Amino acid sequence: MSLRIALTKGRLEDKTLSMLEMAGYGTEKVRNKGRALVLPDTVHDLDYILVKSNDCITYVEHGAADLGVVGKDTLMENETDDYFEMLDLKTGTCCFIVAALPSANLFEKKGRIRIGTKYPNVARQYFLSKNMDVEIIKIDGSVELSPLIGLVDGIVDIMETGSTLKANGLQVLDVCARISARVIVNKASWKLKKAEILCVLEDLKRAVDQNA
Ligand code: PRP
Repeated sequence: MSLRIALTKGRLEDKTLSMLEMAGYGTEKVRNKGRALVLPDTVHDLDYILVKSNDCITYVEHGAADLGVVGKDTLMENETDDYFEMLDLKTGTCCFIVAALPSANLFEKKGRIRIGTKYPNVARQYFLSKNMDVEIIKIDGSVELSPLIGLVDGIVDIMETGSTLKANGLQVLDVCARISARVIVNKASWKLKKAEILCVLEDLKRAVDQNA
Protein backbone atom coordinates (compact mmCIF):
# COMPACT_ATOMS: atom_id res chain seq x y z
CA MET A 1 0.00 0.00 0.00
CA SER A 2 1.57 3.27 -1.00
CA LEU A 3 1.76 6.28 1.30
CA ARG A 4 1.28 9.98 0.84
CA ILE A 5 3.37 12.43 2.88
CA ALA A 6 2.42 16.10 3.28
CA LEU A 7 5.49 18.33 3.60
CA THR A 8 5.38 21.91 4.85
CA LYS A 9 6.72 24.38 2.36
CA GLY A 10 8.86 27.38 3.27
CA ARG A 11 11.02 27.50 6.40
CA LEU A 12 10.98 23.70 6.97
CA GLU A 13 11.08 22.59 3.33
CA ASP A 14 14.79 22.22 2.70
CA LYS A 15 15.51 20.81 6.17
CA THR A 16 12.79 18.18 5.81
CA LEU A 17 14.01 17.15 2.36
CA SER A 18 17.57 16.83 3.65
CA MET A 19 16.31 14.59 6.45
CA LEU A 20 14.38 12.42 3.99
CA GLU A 21 17.49 12.17 1.78
CA MET A 22 19.58 11.10 4.78
CA ALA A 23 16.94 8.45 5.43
CA GLY A 24 17.40 7.09 1.88
CA TYR A 25 14.38 8.66 0.17
CA GLY A 26 14.42 10.03 -3.38
CA THR A 27 13.26 13.63 -3.29
CA GLU A 28 14.55 14.83 -6.69
CA LYS A 29 11.02 15.35 -8.00
CA VAL A 30 10.20 17.57 -5.01
CA ARG A 31 13.42 19.54 -5.35
CA ASN A 32 12.68 20.12 -9.08
CA LYS A 33 8.92 20.38 -8.76
CA GLY A 34 8.09 23.15 -11.23
CA ARG A 35 4.30 23.50 -11.13
CA ALA A 36 3.60 19.86 -10.22
CA LEU A 37 1.71 19.40 -6.94
CA VAL A 38 1.85 15.64 -6.37
CA LEU A 39 5.44 14.49 -6.45
CA PRO A 40 6.52 10.83 -6.42
CA ASP A 41 9.47 9.56 -4.43
CA THR A 42 12.06 8.13 -6.82
CA VAL A 43 13.13 5.29 -4.49
CA HIS A 44 10.12 4.26 -2.41
CA ASP A 45 6.46 3.63 -3.17
CA LEU A 46 5.12 6.92 -1.88
CA ASP A 47 4.41 10.45 -3.00
CA TYR A 48 4.67 13.92 -1.51
CA ILE A 49 2.48 16.97 -1.48
CA LEU A 50 3.98 20.32 -0.53
CA VAL A 51 1.55 22.53 1.38
CA LYS A 52 1.26 25.39 3.87
CA SER A 53 1.70 24.40 7.51
CA ASN A 54 -1.97 24.62 8.56
CA ASP A 55 -2.99 22.68 5.45
CA CYS A 56 -0.51 19.95 6.37
CA ILE A 57 -2.53 19.26 9.52
CA THR A 58 -5.81 19.43 7.57
CA TYR A 59 -4.66 16.93 4.94
CA VAL A 60 -3.39 14.50 7.58
CA GLU A 61 -6.47 14.81 9.81
CA HIS A 62 -8.74 14.05 6.88
CA GLY A 63 -6.60 11.16 5.65
CA ALA A 64 -5.73 12.80 2.32
CA ALA A 65 -2.14 12.35 3.50
CA ASP A 66 -1.03 9.46 5.71
CA LEU A 67 1.84 11.37 7.25
CA GLY A 68 2.81 15.01 7.56
CA VAL A 69 5.86 17.00 8.55
CA VAL A 70 4.95 20.24 10.29
CA GLY A 71 6.39 22.62 12.88
CA LYS A 72 5.48 22.22 16.53
CA ASP A 73 4.50 25.91 16.45
CA THR A 74 1.65 25.12 14.05
CA LEU A 75 0.63 22.06 16.11
CA MET A 76 0.57 24.14 19.31
CA GLU A 77 -1.52 26.87 17.69
CA ASN A 78 -3.99 24.48 16.10
CA GLU A 79 -7.04 23.74 18.19
CA THR A 80 -7.62 20.23 16.85
CA ASP A 81 -5.45 17.22 17.51
CA ASP A 82 -7.04 14.54 15.39
CA TYR A 83 -3.71 12.97 14.46
CA PHE A 84 -0.85 11.15 16.19
CA GLU A 85 2.37 13.10 16.75
CA MET A 86 4.95 10.37 16.25
CA LEU A 87 8.46 11.75 15.84
CA ASP A 88 10.54 14.83 16.60
CA LEU A 89 12.82 15.39 13.60
CA LYS A 90 14.97 17.74 15.73
CA THR A 91 15.41 20.02 12.77
CA GLY A 92 13.88 23.40 11.98
CA THR A 93 14.50 24.24 15.60
CA CYS A 94 13.45 27.63 16.91
CA CYS A 95 11.46 28.94 19.87
CA PHE A 96 8.39 30.92 20.79
CA ILE A 97 9.44 34.18 22.41
CA VAL A 98 7.86 37.25 23.95
CA ALA A 99 9.62 40.39 22.74
CA ALA A 100 9.17 44.13 22.99
CA LEU A 101 11.04 47.40 22.71
CA PRO A 102 13.07 47.94 25.90
CA SER A 103 11.04 51.11 26.56
CA ALA A 104 7.75 49.15 26.67
CA ASN A 105 8.36 47.64 30.14
CA LEU A 106 5.87 44.98 29.10
CA PHE A 107 5.75 42.92 32.28
CA GLU A 108 5.57 45.98 34.54
CA LYS A 109 2.73 47.63 32.63
CA LYS A 110 -0.53 48.12 34.55
CA GLY A 111 -3.82 47.12 32.95
CA ARG A 112 -4.39 45.43 29.64
CA ILE A 113 -1.48 44.95 27.28
CA ARG A 114 -1.71 44.51 23.51
CA ILE A 115 0.18 41.68 21.85
CA GLY A 116 0.71 41.17 18.13
CA THR A 117 1.17 37.62 16.91
CA LYS A 118 0.64 35.05 14.17
CA TYR A 119 -0.17 32.61 17.01
CA PRO A 120 -3.16 33.99 18.97
CA ASN A 121 -3.91 30.75 20.86
CA VAL A 122 -0.33 30.27 21.99
CA ALA A 123 -0.08 33.94 23.01
CA ARG A 124 -3.40 33.92 24.88
CA GLN A 125 -2.47 30.79 26.83
CA TYR A 126 0.93 32.21 27.72
CA PHE A 127 -0.45 35.46 29.18
CA LEU A 128 -3.32 33.61 30.86
CA SER A 129 -0.73 31.47 32.65
CA LYS A 130 0.89 34.72 33.87
CA ASN A 131 -2.50 36.10 34.99
CA MET A 132 -2.02 39.07 32.71
CA ASP A 133 -4.83 40.94 31.00
CA VAL A 134 -4.12 40.81 27.28
CA GLU A 135 -5.66 41.87 23.99
CA ILE A 136 -4.37 39.75 21.11
CA ILE A 137 -4.04 41.33 17.67
CA LYS A 138 -3.61 38.75 14.90
CA ILE A 139 -0.90 39.70 12.41
CA ASP A 140 -0.17 37.52 9.39
CA GLY A 141 3.48 38.39 8.71
CA SER A 142 6.40 40.63 9.70
CA VAL A 143 5.05 40.64 13.26
CA GLU A 144 8.14 42.53 14.45
CA LEU A 145 6.82 45.66 12.75
CA SER A 146 3.74 45.95 14.99
CA PRO A 147 5.44 47.21 18.19
CA LEU A 148 7.74 49.52 16.22
CA ILE A 149 4.86 51.59 14.93
CA GLY A 150 2.83 51.56 18.14
CA LEU A 151 0.16 49.00 17.21
CA VAL A 152 1.04 46.72 20.13
CA ASP A 153 3.08 46.68 23.34
CA GLY A 154 4.87 43.46 22.47
CA ILE A 155 4.82 40.34 20.33
CA VAL A 156 4.74 36.56 20.60
CA ASP A 157 6.54 35.08 17.63
CA ILE A 158 9.03 32.44 16.61
CA MET A 159 12.72 33.24 16.73
CA GLU A 160 15.25 31.22 14.79
CA THR A 161 18.51 33.17 14.52
CA GLY A 162 17.24 36.25 16.39
CA SER A 163 18.46 38.52 13.61
CA THR A 164 15.02 40.01 12.79
CA LEU A 165 14.49 41.02 16.44
CA LYS A 166 18.01 42.42 16.70
CA ALA A 167 17.74 44.39 13.46
CA ASN A 168 14.60 46.06 14.82
CA GLY A 169 15.79 46.80 18.35
CA LEU A 170 13.42 44.31 20.00
CA GLN A 171 14.39 42.54 23.20
CA VAL A 172 13.54 38.92 24.10
CA LEU A 173 11.70 38.98 27.44
CA ASP A 174 10.86 35.29 27.73
CA VAL A 175 11.16 32.01 25.86
CA CYS A 176 7.77 30.27 25.93
CA ALA A 177 8.55 26.98 24.17
CA ARG A 178 11.15 25.17 22.06
CA ILE A 179 9.97 24.18 18.60
CA SER A 180 11.06 21.71 15.90
CA ALA A 181 9.63 19.78 12.96
CA ARG A 182 7.36 16.87 13.92
CA VAL A 183 5.98 13.91 12.01
CA ILE A 184 2.24 13.47 12.39
CA VAL A 185 0.20 10.46 11.27
CA ASN A 186 -3.44 10.04 10.30
CA LYS A 187 -5.25 7.89 12.88
CA ALA A 188 -6.94 5.54 10.37
CA SER A 189 -3.74 5.16 8.33
CA TRP A 190 -1.96 4.13 11.51
CA LYS A 191 -4.36 1.17 11.74
CA LEU A 192 -4.55 0.28 8.05
CA LYS A 193 -0.96 0.92 6.93
CA LYS A 194 0.92 0.47 10.18
CA ALA A 195 3.80 -1.60 8.73
CA GLU A 196 4.49 0.88 5.91
CA ILE A 197 4.27 3.88 8.24
CA LEU A 198 6.56 2.21 10.78
CA CYS A 199 9.16 1.71 8.04
CA VAL A 200 9.14 5.43 7.22
CA LEU A 201 9.30 6.39 10.91
CA GLU A 202 12.21 4.00 11.53
CA ASP A 203 14.10 5.34 8.50
CA LEU A 204 13.55 8.91 9.70
CA LYS A 205 14.50 8.04 13.29
CA ARG A 206 17.81 6.65 12.03
CA ALA A 207 18.40 9.90 10.12
CA VAL A 208 17.55 11.94 13.24
CA ASP A 209 20.06 9.93 15.31
CA GLN A 210 22.67 10.29 12.58
CA ASN A 211 22.06 14.05 12.50
CA ALA A 212 22.40 14.43 16.29
C1 PRP B 1 9.57 34.22 10.97
C2 PRP B 1 9.19 34.87 12.28
C3 PRP B 1 10.14 36.02 12.36
C4 PRP B 1 11.39 35.49 11.69
C5 PRP B 1 12.37 35.04 12.74
O1 PRP B 1 8.96 34.86 9.94
O2 PRP B 1 7.83 35.28 12.28
O3 PRP B 1 9.66 37.13 11.65
O4 PRP B 1 10.99 34.36 10.90
O5 PRP B 1 13.55 34.52 12.18
P1 PRP B 1 14.99 34.95 12.71
O6 PRP B 1 15.00 34.78 14.22
O7 PRP B 1 15.94 33.98 12.04
O8 PRP B 1 15.23 36.37 12.30
P2 PRP B 1 8.98 34.28 8.48
O9 PRP B 1 10.35 34.32 7.90
O10 PRP B 1 8.39 32.91 8.49
O11 PRP B 1 8.12 35.31 7.63
P3 PRP B 1 6.83 36.18 7.98
O12 PRP B 1 7.21 37.16 9.04
O13 PRP B 1 6.47 36.88 6.72
O14 PRP B 1 5.78 35.22 8.45
